[in-house]
Amino acid sequence: MPTYSEKVMDHFANPRNVGEIEDADGVGSEGNPVCGDMMEFYIKVDDGLLTDVKYKTFGCGAAIACSSMVSEMAKGKTLEEAKGITNRDVAAELEGLPKNKLHCSNLGADALHKAIEDYESKAREG
Ligand code: FES
Repeated sequence: MPTYSEKVMDHFANPRNVGEIEDADGVGSEGNPVCGDMMEFYIKVDDGLLTDVKYKTFGCGAAIACSSMVSEMAKGKTLEEAKGITNRDVAAELEGLPKNKLHCSNLGADALHKAIEDYESKAREG
């Protein structure tokens, strides 16, 4: 049995910022074909800042904890800062993940980055 840190258990039991943003400025989804888990991130952007971050996660407990942590880490950050959030940062903030669960943290950071890319490509198109 892998053991999870208290932080993982806390974010799994009480995930923060769950939900969907109807009028999101950017949306990004990411899935893992191996385990079949997926998540979708929604962001609101104002003046270069992520004013709101929400997500829906269909996945394992670690994926839920990771999306919750990513949302907390990204909220209030600039787009550039949020782009710099790596999978490793997420796992570190969660005080580590069992080895076979590390891929779950990839989903969170990648889905967030895709939502930012979506926002930026829309902004470029005007
Ligand atoms: Fe696939 Fe966790 S087992 S995201």
